[in-house]
Amino acid sequence: MNRVKITETALRDGHQSLIATRLRTKDILPIIEKMDNAGYYSMEVWGGATFDACLRFLNEDPWERLREIRSRVKNTKLQMLLRGQNLLGYKHYPDDVVEAFIQKSIENGIDIIRVFDALNDIRNLETSVKAIKKAGAHCQCAISYTTSKVHTLDYFVELAKAMEKLGADSICIKDMAGILTPISAYGLVKKLKDVLNIPLELHTHSTSGIGSMTYLKAVEAGVDIIDTAISPFAEGTSQPATESMVLTLKEGERAPNINVGLLGEIADYFKPIKEKFRKEGILNPKVMDVEPKTIIYKVPGGMLSNLLSQLKSANAEYKYEEVLREVPRVREDLGFPPLVTPLSQMVGTQAVFNVLSGERYKMVPKEIKEYVKGLYGRSPAPINEEIKNKIIGNDEVITVRPADLLGPEIEKYKEEIKDLTTSMEDILSYILFPQVAKKFFEDRLNPKLSDSNGEEKVHYIYVTM
Ligand code: CO
Repeated sequence: MNRVKITETALRDGHQSLIATRLRTKDILPIIEKMDNAGYYSMEVWGGATFDACLRFLNEDPWERLREIRSRVKNTKLQMLLRGQNLLGYKHYPDDVVEAFIQKSIENGIDIIRVFDALNDIRNLETSVKAIKKAGAHCQCAISYTTSKVHTLDYFVELAKAMEKLGADSICIKDMAGILTPISAYGLVKKLKDVLNIPLELHTHSTSGIGSMTYLKAVEAGVDIIDTAISPFAEGTSQPATESMVLTLKEGERAPNINVGLLGEIADYFKPIKEKFRKEGILNPKVMDVEPKTIIYKVPGGMLSNLLSQLKSANAEYKYEEVLREVPRVREDLGFPPLVTPLSQMVGTQAVFNVLSGERYKMVPKEIKEYVKGLYGRSPAPINEEIKNKIIGNDEVITVRPADLLGPEIEKYKEEIKDLTTSMEDILSYILFPQVAKKFFEDRLNPKLSDSNGEEKVHYIYVTM
């Protein structure tokens, strides 16, 4: 039997899930060489919300962080998470932007790009896959895992096969909500291993309390790689703990080849850092709570707390259970989209509107209208006709790949920002987060605003997503 491989997620999903992505580069660099020697298959260090958080909250250049990590990591593959045609943002970007962003990510040090589409619309992955392969990196296509009457075993098998055909070097089952139960994981992994000729990875979250059981069953079924986070940044809404999984699997026939002593040293390094975030209130104790309702409502942990805070600000906390029951109904109306960024936020907001306004779809956010028009891609199941009429009337629904409607944009942005920067990395930061990046470039040019002793003044604001 082949050994289980481990992807360490602390430096991306771990801190994104527990401390709103607030690890700074200087928290990471002192331990990165030790992490490089632990025996991980890969480390997820970039993408997701890290890019936005660097610029928005930490006054850091995300590209510089990547280069600093790359220069110290010699043995372990560096991995990032990419939302397909949405890159690291919340809307579709034109192909020229997607191609340039991927090329620069790889040039600056990324080895593996995990790319997914919120709707599992494979057309939204085409440009990314081509660009990743062209730049010579490992292309991992991720299935956004969810459950519904259309998300059957056959559905996932067909999707994974289509991804392999598209050029994927490996497949990931991305269970962003932590709703993949151990027995279902066994069945799904077994089935996918039967039909795929490329490695299979599993990504889950501990939110509902079953994550490590899910991994154990997936390993029994033959999964090649699992995603774990070193203990200080594990469990709760993050991944199962690396040490716990490794110590468990060590007794089996697929023992991972990992240095347990080094894992302990890495954990010891991160413990006081976690404590600091706890004292500052960045680590919300709620994220460490076990939330088995996740399995019942199929709502990711981050979305639960987001719904609660939306209701709080409307003085309607008592409607929480009602909103939780409305979420699956909205999902069904909209053709069962998986609840992952940006769909999780969109469906959640619609559910809140439906409950608070007292009439379903009386108020509809712009994003939901665009979704119904097909601008996010094809919904997994057809959208309820009656609801569609109520939301967009007789407006046209597109059937082409959404990015086919977008013309090139790089030159336009280049021109806009040329007084502040001419580097392609900066231009890409600007395209993704225009206001935030512009302010970052201005601060960088103005030495008065940057701190002379190097202790940056960080404003801790929760990301509400
Ligand atoms: Co995740």
